[in-house]
Amino acid sequence: MTQPRFSAIPLGRPWCQAIQLSDGRRLLMRPIQPADAKRLQRSFQTLTPQEIRMRFMHPMTELSAEFAQRLCTVDGHSAFALILVEAKPPAKALIAAVGRLAVDEDGPEGEFAIIVSREVQRQGLGRYLMQQLIDWARERGLQAIYGFILSENRPMLALLKSMGFTLGPSDEDIGIELAQLRLDATGTR
Ligand SMILES: CC(C)(COP(=O)(O)OP(=O)(O)OC[C@H]1O[C@@H](n2cnc3c(N)ncnc32)[C@H](O)[C@@H]1OP(=O)(O)O)[C@@H](O)C(=O)NCCC(=O)NCCS
Repeated sequence: MTQPRFSAIPLGRPWCQAIQLSDGRRLLMRPIQPADAKRLQRSFQTLTPQEIRMRFMHPMTELSAEFAQRLCTVDGHSAFALILVEAKPPAKALIAAVGRLAVDEDGPEGEFAIIVSREVQRQGLGRYLMQQLIDWARERGLQAIYGFILSENRPMLALLKSMGFTLGPSDEDIGIELAQLRLDATGTR
């Protein structure tokens, strides 16, 4: 497994860390907030159509203000989302990565989704964010987490497999894989 190319320093608040990449770039990891909605919209504009399709599984040309607000409004109980935001003045800082988990209404499981900007991919951040979501899910008492991944999304499928997820065809659609991790089994660390 590739060694992570960053350091992470806890900031003394839950889920908040200062991340320094090996090229010197700095990011702040923290829970998403309602005030991030406009920043999320701006960051969405930097994504390629392919990245949007991998993350949202259908084409979208913009993130509406209403959807952005919804994605940024998480209560930390029925849903949880972490962002990696550039350490720049607030008006300039873009969101470089998002990992989120939505707890099912009818059961002790949650659905994840994640995206890491191509600017900072292949440095271990995707794996690190997934591990944070797993840690949160364990603390929250979930029994399993799952996600739907396009079959062509080799990077994400490889990442999940290496973290112990089981992969298989989903009932949802041909061309979509269901990835699952039971949290009562041995951990991924
Ligand atoms: C998939 C994604 C999250 C990976 O993020 P990342 O920060 O680059 O991932 P990491 O650097 O932590 O890599 C972890 C593992 O993923 C796999 N991986 C990541 N990118 C890969 C690539 N381009 N090709 C092959 N495998 C890849 C590898 O197994 C890698 O482990 P290794 O470095 O030990 O080989 C990122 O490519 C992305 O955001 N893609 C678009 C959105 C998306 O597909 N979201 C998933 C839907 S839920």
